[in-house]
This record gives sequence, structure tokens and C-alpha cells, in this order.
Amino acid sequence: MSDTEVSSENRGQWSSRWGFILAAAGGAVGLGNIWKFPYITGENGGGYFVLMYLIFILLIGLPIMVAEVLVGRTAQKSPVGAFRSLSKKGSPWILSGWLGVLTGFIILSYYSVVAGWAMHYTWFSITQGFTGMEADAIGKAFGTLYADTSTNVFWHLIFMLLTIGVILGGIQRGVERAARILMPVLLLMLLVLLGLAISSDGFGRALDFVFKPDFSKVTGAGVLEALGHSFFTLSLGMGAMITYGSYLKKKEDLVAASGMITILDTVIALVACMVLFPITFSFGLEPAAGPGLVFVNLPIAFSQLAGGVFWSTLFFALLVLAALTSAISLLEVVVSTFIDEFKMSRPVATLLCGGAIALFGLPSALSGSEDSFFGNGFKDHSAFLFDAETGKNWFDTFDHLASNWLLPIGGLLIALFVSWRVSDRAREEGFKNGSRFMRWYWHWLITLRYVVPIGVLSVILHKIGLI
Ligand code: TRP
Repeated sequence: MSDTEVSSENRGQWSSRWGFILAAAGGAVGLGNIWKFPYITGENGGGYFVLMYLIFILLIGLPIMVAEVLVGRTAQKSPVGAFRSLSKKGSPWILSGWLGVLTGFIILSYYSVVAGWAMHYTWFSITQGFTGMEADAIGKAFGTLYADTSTNVFWHLIFMLLTIGVILGGIQRGVERAARILMPVLLLMLLVLLGLAISSDGFGRALDFVFKPDFSKVTGAGVLEALGHSFFTLSLGMGAMITYGSYLKKKEDLVAASGMITILDTVIALVACMVLFPITFSFGLEPAAGPGLVFVNLPIAFSQLAGGVFWSTLFFALLVLAALTSAISLLEVVVSTFIDEFKMSRPVATLLCGGAIALFGLPSALSGSEDSFFGNGFKDHSAFLFDAETGKNWFDTFDHLASNWLLPIGGLLIALFVSWRVSDRAREEGFKNGSRFMRWYWHWLITLRYVVPIGVLSVILHKIGLI
């Protein structure tokens, strides 16, 4: 017990409830909302995919978010330590903590490559700008970047250095301040772009595409992708929210805070779609354009806008910053685990983990190249993992593995752990007498005990063809 007390004193705490909400939402809002969600929505045919995603957010994501924050605050530890201190000695539950660390390691390794694209686009916006470029040329420019190994490696390493630098600065100073200032600016910028999108010709078609479910387009892979993305976008299933929860003050209402984070994250993802798809349809572009969607379609709009240089610079710079706050949350999980478990100092743990992740991300930075083993070459080696004849490159394989498999499995384990093993403590910590959400305790518990496992397992079993 004294161990817990000592470490909780050293951890530092968020200065207020909003400090926590903005920092956790800053960690949740990132490339997942603005780059990934629109592009997988486009690839999976729109409406039904968005509907599945919303259902998963509400029924599975939100209850797990509460569970993670709660575990973190109760245990005052990073994931591995949290599972250890809340379970019996020698219990295998601790493995779910390590699974989370592994998942965070994998996600950050390729996340940083996409953040690198955003950095390249920021730089390009400042130095050249899209003004006057033809749509065709803008499409080609992304293709060139995607395949250009040295540029990808360069920006990937720069972004990792930036992330490592912030983590070295320590939790309170680094993360909270950054997230506080930047989140609202990003949201404002998206709303301005939404204003432009609403007045474009493609808006009506975009509304239909995003919000009208076409159930003929449902596929098992699409439903799994929607489930996986609901974890990815809320930063669930690997202990990121456990780590954040460990910094939340005891007197704060964690259910309300979790709800706020979920709402903010979801609204931003939907707004991103409603910015991108009107442009897509107005210019007669393809909604299923893949990972290049945000990097091609927005610049096309910027190229035609008065003050396009300003807009594109601002937008991509904000995207880099949104990615940075998310990357921070990923690296913080890995680093804080190493500090707690191996008694390392923060600088040593940060340099070691950050360096290893940067290294592991190199193949992802090479994945767009046709000639690279990690690009086309890897497709032959990964085909057995997918039901298609060709596999995916290294980058896509690891994205798929982490977000569609590791996160849902990690989330499932957390749900089971909290609802079956520590439900009494959970009630005490999150839903005690007099708290605003006390009445919801049973709903929450039943959801975690039955709805989440049945939901996650049936999506997974369906995908692998067992049901
Ligand atoms: N949620 C972030 C995004 O949408 C990515 C992210 C940050 C994440 N931390 C995470 C995903 C932890 C899974 C787990 O961009």
C-alpha cells in the first residue's frame, strides 16, 4: 500500500477537471479523427459504416472509457502496475497490461509516419503552396510523397524526436499545456472549413453518403473495422486512458469527464467527414480514395480558395499538433510503464522506448515504395493474414493488426477485468452514493459484463468465419 501512496505523490495531478478533459481529449483527437475516419468511411461505403461506428462508440467505447479512467484513478499506476495492484499476486491479468504496452508501441511506430506526411504538407504549404495547382497534380504529389522513402524516413524521425522531446519535459508541463491551447483552435478551424463545405454543391450528396445507411454495403470486414476504429479513435484498449485516469483527482466526476471526451472526439470525427466529403463530391472525386483522402481532397479545395496558402498551412500545422498530442499519449503509456516497472529514470526510459519505436517505424516509412521489401514485397508475405489474395504492405498490416485486433481484445480484457474482478471498488470509485451517475451503475456493469464481450466476440468470430 505504501508503494501506491508514494508513487501517487510523485505522479502529479491535472490542475482541474477541464485540464484533464482537454488533455485526454487532445490525446484522443488525432489522425484517427481527421485522416483515418474519413478514409475508412469512404472505403467502406459511408452510411452503414458510420452508423456501426456510432453504435460501437456508445455501447462499447463509452463504458470502456469509464472503466479505463476508473482503473487508472483507483490504482494510480500505469497499465501494468494497475493490473498488478488490483489483482491477486501472480495473476495473469498483468499480461493485459503488457499487451497494451505492445499495442501502443506498434501504433506509434506507423502513426508517426502519417504525422510525418502532415509535417511535409505543412512545410510544402509554407514554401510552395497549392494555389494554382491542378487537381491532377495534387493527386500525383501525394502519390510521389507516399512512395518517396527518404522523405518519409526524414519526417518520421523528426516527428518522433518532437514526441520524445515533449515526453522528456514531464507530464504536467508538456501534455496539458499543449492540449489546452491547441484543441479549441483545431475545432474552430474545422468549423470554418465546415462553413465553406456547407455552401458547396457536394454538401447534399455528402450528407446522404455519411448519414444514410446503405445496408447492401455491409461486410464482416467493415463491421470489424468500425469496431476497431471506435477503440482507436477514443484511445481505448491499450491503457492510454488508464494512464490519464491515474492523474485525475479523486473528487472529480469521472463518468461526466469520460462522456465529455467521447462527445468531443465523435463530433470532431463527424465534422471532419462533413468537411471532406462535400469537397470530394463537389470536385467529382472518389470517396474511396484510401489513405490519401485528406492529403489530396483538402489541398484541392485550398488550391481554389482565396488565401489558400494561409488555410493549408494552418490546417496541416494543426493536424501535426493534433497528431502530436495523440503520439504523446501513446509514448507516455510505454514510458511510464518502463519507469514504474524497471525503476528507470524518465529521460532514460523516454530515450530508450522512443528510440526503439522510431526504429520499428522505419519499415512503415518504407511501405509506400514499390521497390521496398516492406512495400509491395511484404504483400506476398502477409496475404495469409487477410482473406484477399494479396496481402497488405508493412504499414497497413500493422495498422490492421493493432486497431482491428489488439485494441478490441485489450478493451475486452479491461471490460471483463473491471466488471467481474473489481466491480465493488469500481462502484466506490466511480459511482458512489450521491454521485451524479450513481443510477447508471448497474447499466454500466451489465454492459461491461455481457454486452461488450458478446459484441466484441461476435464481430471477431464472424470475421474469422466461425459464426
Ligand atoms: N486516438 C488517437 C487518434 O484518433 C490515436 C491514439 C492515441 C490511440 N492514443 C491511443 C489509439 C491509444 C489507441 C490507443 O488519432
